[in-house]
Amino acid sequence: MKLGIIAAVTTLAGALAFATFTTSSAVAQDACVRNDYKTEMVRDACTSGGQKAAKDVMKKFNKDNNIKSCNQCHSKLAPSYDLKADGLEQFKKLGGKLIDTKGAKPPAKAPAPAPKTPAAPAPKTK
Ligand code: HEC
Repeated sequence: MKLGIIAAVTTLAGALAFATFTTSSAVAQDACVRNDYKTEMVRDACTSGGQKAAKDVMKKFNKDNNIKSCNQCHSKLAPSYDLKADGLEQFKKLGGKLIDTKGAKPPAKAPAPAPKTPAAPAPKTK
């Protein structure tokens, strides 16, 4: 009787240990070097699949835009992928989507200028 309980407990403990052991491995992926992203494309790829995914979307982006060399925008490739001064600008010009800097932009329409005509009535005499 007692032995049965002990056996059950050890089996359970064994199963638990096995479960924790398996879940903790294999998640390790090369993370991206960047951590403040300027583009939606790279941010999404980096956050979901690490640098490898970023590389893949970049490759696709290049293919779609007929770009022959990664060095057109990057001054260095793996592992740091430094951008040239105009790398982001080029990306933008090609139609790449940048991340909105929330609320930082001025309103698109400037406020209407004040009318030029002196509309104000003459000040009252004191
Ligand atoms: C049109 C310009 C342009 C070209 C060409 C380009 N990239 Fe990029 N790449 C960028 C920009 C801009 C970023 C940064 C994105 C951000 O900050 O969100 C970037 C980021 C990356 C990153 C993320 C790096 C990290 O760890 O943070 C990788 C990987 C990458 N590029 C690989 C490549 C590869 C591989 C090629 C060639 C197949 C390539 N890029 C060609 C513009 C370009």
